[in-house]
Amino acid sequence: MPKEAGAPTGRLQVRIKRSAEESQERFEVERFPAMTVLDVLLAVQREHDPSIGFRFSCRVAMCGTCTLRVDGRSVLACQALVQDHAREIEIAPMAGYPVVRDLVVDMAPFWEQWSRITPYLDPKESLDEPAVVRPDSEEREAIDPSLDCIQCGACYSSCGVSGQHKTFLGPAALTRAMVLINDSRDAAGRTRLDVVSGQDGADRCHLIYGCTGVCPKGLDPARAIRRVRTGRVEDR
Ligand code: SF4
Ligand code: FES
Repeated sequence: MPKEAGAPTGRLQVRIKRSAEESQERFEVERFPAMTVLDVLLAVQREHDPSIGFRFSCRVAMCGTCTLRVDGRSVLACQALVQDHAREIEIAPMAGYPVVRDLVVDMAPFWEQWSRITPYLDPKESLDEPAVVRPDSEEREAIDPSLDCIQCGACYSSCGVSGQHKTFLGPAALTRAMVLINDSRDAAGRTRLDVVSGQDGADRCHLIYGCTGVCPKGLDPARAIRRVRTGRVEDR
């Protein structure tokens, strides 16, 4: 932890799920104000065990690579703060993914579903004359709250249906599909509607809202899935 972060506020017990031992390992680090879970992991790596496996890149909640579970909840390690009064935290890899090593998971199940909905715009017009969605239009306002997905996988990790049914499209892919289906510039809506209407699509969601409860970017995948089901703008 850098010195400029402030004076230590106490000691923090850290329990980390390790893959080699198939059990938790305990560490102790100094706790600082505004300490993130990523700070904790870097302190454990620096002070106790350089071999511990975890993933991160941007450190500012943009790249979506550092997702893991803290006390059972899926979070971005670089965004989640250790509570000032916390004495102990438990860190584990995301659920629903094969573990590569320690806290690093294989995101293949997520990307497999993501790719099924053709996650990019298939433009109707030639690129020389691109159609425009005005920022203040009703269309843009309808899809705006669902645009900022960083593909971190937290929603998938928190979805009981995704955990049980590996062919379920899952919250992130269905949210992305909703955005593109409602984008008037896109030409692949029919194909996408066929995918989200199939047995692995929106109807498989149980609307438990585990995805919405954890999304670190404030998206509401459960609401987007409702909108895919009903087509109603109020379900946006
Ligand atoms: S919808 Fe939210 S939780 Fe799910 S992958 Fe996107 S940013 Fe992460
Ligand atoms: S390091 Fe990029 S989102 Fe956490």
